[in-house]
Amino acid sequence: MTSDDLAAFAYGLPKAELHVHLEGTLEPELRFALAERNGIELAEKTVDEMRATYVFDDLTSFLAVYYPAMAVLVTADDFDDLAWAYLERARANGVRHVEMFFDPQAHTSRGVAFDTVIQGLRRAVVRAEAELGIDAALVLCFLRDLPTDSAMATLEEALPYRDWIVGVGLDSDERDNPPTKFEAVFRRARAEGLRLTMHCDIDQVGSIDSIRWVLEELRVDRIDHGTNIVEDPALVEALVGSGIGLTCCPVSNSFVTASMKGAEMVDLLARGARVTLNSDDPAYFGGYVADNYVRLAEQYALGRDTLAQLAINSFEASWLPAERVAAYVAEVREFVAAQ
Ligand code: ADE
Ligand code: ZN
Repeated sequence: MTSDDLAAFAYGLPKAELHVHLEGTLEPELRFALAERNGIELAEKTVDEMRATYVFDDLTSFLAVYYPAMAVLVTADDFDDLAWAYLERARANGVRHVEMFFDPQAHTSRGVAFDTVIQGLRRAVVRAEAELGIDAALVLCFLRDLPTDSAMATLEEALPYRDWIVGVGLDSDERDNPPTKFEAVFRRARAEGLRLTMHCDIDQVGSIDSIRWVLEELRVDRIDHGTNIVEDPALVEALVGSGIGLTCCPVSNSFVTASMKGAEMVDLLARGARVTLNSDDPAYFGGYVADNYVRLAEQYALGRDTLAQLAINSFEASWLPAERVAAYVAEVREFVAAQ
């Protein structure tokens, strides 16, 4: 495949995105526009100046840039505009279904009401179905570097909006904040009928123990990142047997660790794991979901069949009803057959 053919195939391929933080899709241009609308003065005056501040080499240094940028998100319209801008880009990346993370505590801790956040996001979700043909769902993420009580209070605040949320996740700084810290919150969320996923970030202290616990004890419905599972072949077998998806983010990995961790993804795929490709925080890492397909394919000489398998995995690892999954998988096969 020429690089043009590869890009056209990767962009056109119908796919689901299962690991994208809406706050991580806040592009500098929108950040400036929202700052102006809300009368907030920013230190930087141009997009280039702003991008020049996006300097990070690990998760902690990334988060130190990511959270302050959210100060421009104040009204329901701001959250609507944020989600809408992402959804339009997602459409151009061949996304047919998306399960999007949002971080309510990053906003309620600044005095923005939970209701404001979710009403704005929900408006974009509803419009996306009507105007973009994307079915979009929201996944509420708890910030693992805040106390457990705060997560539980956030879950309770979310319950009146239960029908607008498909599941819960766990993000932010994993160091000293293992999944076990949130066992009670996640068990409660499951009792409320929500799906469960958790970040098991790359190369953390105790990564393999965290992965084992979420898979075998808590029994999550998906794992975000999780490629350190290759350290334990028996656990890989358990993962494959469970059919649980891993939401991998090669471009993001290359910013917060020394590599894309592509070799691990390719190896896990070959062993039958439900590996999926996703963008994580594309406004900061410079690649939306189709770019993640392109980058992995270029580096590991992946062919169309492998990319199509990754797209099929993305639907099979989603939380859509079985008949919708089957319909989207058929769409992938039709797309490939028409090439
Ligand atoms: N929050 C936003 N992006 C994240 C990431 N890549 N890892 C953990 N928490 C996050
Ligand atoms: Zn993430």
